[in-house]
Amino acid sequence: MIEKETVIIIGCGLAALTLADKIRDNKNVIVLTKSSIRNSNSIRAQGGIACVVDPNDNCEKHYMDTIVAGCKFNDEQAVETLVNSGPIVIEQLMNKGFLFDQDSSGKFLLGKEGAHQQRRILHAGGDSTGKRLMDFLINRISGNVTIMEEATAVELIVEDNQCLGVITCNKANEFSTYYANHIVLATGGCGAVYQVTSNDPSVMGDGIALAYRAGAKITDMEFIQFHPTMLCSKGQCYGLVSEAVRGEGAILRLKDGTSIMNGVHPLLDLAPRDIVAREIHRYVKQGKEVFLDISMINDFEHKFPTITSLCEQANISTKDGRIPVAPGAHFCMGGVKTDLLGLTTVKGLYAIGEVANNGVHGANRLASNSLLEGLVYSNLLGNYLMACTNRKVRVSSPASRGNANVKRPPLPTTEEVRAIMSKYVGIERCEKDLLYAKSWIEKFSFQMFTNEQTFTFTLDEHNQINLLTTCWLIVTSALQRTESRGAHYRSDYPVSNDNNWQNKHIEQQNKETI
Ligand code: SIN
Repeated sequence: MIEKETVIIIGCGLAALTLADKIRDNKNVIVLTKSSIRNSNSIRAQGGIACVVDPNDNCEKHYMDTIVAGCKFNDEQAVETLVNSGPIVIEQLMNKGFLFDQDSSGKFLLGKEGAHQQRRILHAGGDSTGKRLMDFLINRISGNVTIMEEATAVELIVEDNQCLGVITCNKANEFSTYYANHIVLATGGCGAVYQVTSNDPSVMGDGIALAYRAGAKITDMEFIQFHPTMLCSKGQCYGLVSEAVRGEGAILRLKDGTSIMNGVHPLLDLAPRDIVAREIHRYVKQGKEVFLDISMINDFEHKFPTITSLCEQANISTKDGRIPVAPGAHFCMGGVKTDLLGLTTVKGLYAIGEVANNGVHGANRLASNSLLEGLVYSNLLGNYLMACTNRKVRVSSPASRGNANVKRPPLPTTEEVRAIMSKYVGIERCEKDLLYAKSWIEKFSFQMFTNEQTFTFTLDEHNQINLLTTCWLIVTSALQRTESRGAHYRSDYPVSNDNNWQNKHIEQQNKETI
């Protein structure tokens, strides 16, 4: 009998669980997650999935919208694959029993979001798309794959540029070692390295830091997308207000009623995200409040139950017709460099979803393309893995390493790091601020940490070292790109410089591990 291969998936969002579901009959699948299976960015997704299903729409239009929003920095083949595979993966999902919102005649109720030429956003439960999808997938994989919760991946075991396994640490600071034929990073992005974010607080770029330490190439980390509209009231952020609300006609206004997007972009409130976010940021910086005027949307509570509940938590009545908003960190376009199948530059190590960078989103992701990316690229990796047969798991023992007397670097708190990133590496950057953030991060000498010392650190220390590593990758990439493009805005280089930067990707690789 042919023995099944083992696949470890680190992370538990849409890309992770779609892959687990796809390969579970063919492989032994282990899903490792640092908190619970219900903590991910995917479960929080509101808007939906961008996909061509309307007869008046076509893949060329979806392709063009993705490329224009991405400032032509996208990998064209990755975009073509995304938009052309969209209708196929949606049909597969529905064939398994997933239901998208439809009218009484069975026609999809399609939403509209920024920078889309037309309505093409499939959604479920109004603005509960992520929750519905994740409930559906958790239900499908439960009992069929091994799910390890509270198991934080702290080191990828790599020998001769081949990933052999992963070491985890739990809250009691106990380590475990897992070996597998294939190790897949699906850890999401890094929005929670900032103070105001739509991301789950646990999403701080661990996968990117792990891959960097393992010697994998990391690219384009300067491109961090800020979503224009987080519900922010009295200094507190309560979560995302989907762009789909503006798709239904909501308008961004100042207290006196002035529409802030008038004259800024022909698409007004539905301009690409980077442009809207920067415009709101301009007013917030002057101490002015910005509101979403929702007074024209009928039946708001029914269309947007998740946002209505966030408003209730913030003591805001949707009946008053306005929601206070400010931009917040939302999505990382950069990440672990992969090809179109999800293979990284380290053998046996793969990346899918937000942690991966196959170039599909360019300099600024188009709204509702992220869930689609998760579905399309996890399916492609699934096909690849299923064609791999019976590779022997190479077991090596990391046990003899470690020096208990290692000098521990003094580490900052998460809140301190978030404050520095928000103040100096936010929507607007400049050389002076970036250099300050870089030297602040480097003073913690986190780079002295090597995999040799894995067992000498506590879980908290591992988390802080990963956080600092990810922030350092963002800062040093942002310093290098001396132009503005999409989500990366340098106030000292405010325009795009196509001659020098149009096709140039900033690559970072830890040479000590390769
Ligand atoms: C939103 O609903 O506005 C977020 C969707 C996305 O980030 O694609």
